[in-house]
Amino acid sequence: MAKDKDKSIKDIEDLPGIGSATAEKLREAGIDTVEKVATSSPHDISDLTGISVEAAKKAVDAAKQATTIEYETGEEAYEKRKSLGRITTGSKGFDELLGGGVETNGITEVYGRFASGKTQIGFQLSVNVQLPQEKGGLEGAVLFIDTEGTFRPERISAMAKAVGLDPNKVLQNIFAVRASTTEQQILTIERADKLIVEKNIKLIVVDSLMALFRSEFVGRGALGERQQKLNQHLHKLQSMADKYNLAVYVTNQVMDNPAILFGDPTTPVGGNIIAHAATTRLYIRKGKEDKRIVRLVDSPNMPEGECVIKITPEGIRD
Ligand code: GTP
Ligand code: MG
Repeated sequence: MAKDKDKSIKDIEDLPGIGSATAEKLREAGIDTVEKVATSSPHDISDLTGISVEAAKKAVDAAKQATTIEYETGEEAYEKRKSLGRITTGSKGFDELLGGGVETNGITEVYGRFASGKTQIGFQLSVNVQLPQEKGGLEGAVLFIDTEGTFRPERISAMAKAVGLDPNKVLQNIFAVRASTTEQQILTIERADKLIVEKNIKLIVVDSLMALFRSEFVGRGALGERQQKLNQHLHKLQSMADKYNLAVYVTNQVMDNPAILFGDPTTPVGGNIIAHAATTRLYIRKGKEDKRIVRLVDSPNMPEGECVIKITPEGIRD
């Protein structure tokens, strides 16, 4: 019953409380799909359209239900049992820790402190995904969302040369987007379908997943809204991973957790929403010199474990 009702919601006018005048205002504000209503806050919708917050909340809730069901039908539609793809990290030990490299159809999260190597891994995967399959790639392109202004073509070029790929071709296959608001970050993913299909995107990098969410949603009052938007964003990333059989790599920051008395007292930010959404979670920390210790914290099919990698001039290596 509920399902039939939800399936009838296709346009924003189909949402409860959204008449044609309200829909018009929403479209003007760029909120032109049910999915975008689902990722908006009732307060924003109320401000934009003049309808009450309560009415807006009903519309958002209905939109959320409808989009969740859309994800399910999207999953049904994609031919089942596409084989998982794997992207080599450049390190044998790291690949083994992951069961053969970073896998498609899932979200791989790496969290760690400043300069631990999260971005470097993102660059390396952006190069390696372009390798032929026998060399650990998927011959695919990359959508790279840079939220911190740390995208470095020179570094990618050096990594490309080191694996025998043409650096210019490699850079041409990396579609980098500099996002400076969560809105841009979210919309880049929501509007990515065409790019993914046309350019054969096999890897989406979000570096960093949380930085903009943290700076935009400050204080306790904003936490609920932040987590709601983050949740939608992660759902969308996962649905892209499923639909197009691509890998999603996200980086995350850590905060000190004084509650942990022994061991390394760092915790990834973003709370349970990321913990639930990430298929594979990794924690990276500095070792001596160019060494880094990578710990597999959570995986659907591999045991917890650690490996040591190096960040060399050529890139990530054993
Ligand atoms: P934040 O984004 O600040 O949280 O850090 P991050 O975890 O993304 O760190 P990042 O991946 O940027 O790693 C930075 C470290 O990688 C540097 O401290 C260097 O040790 C190493 N690195 C970066 N660029 C190069 C390079 O061109 N050559 C070599 N050999 N090492 C590099
Ligand atoms: Mg970084």
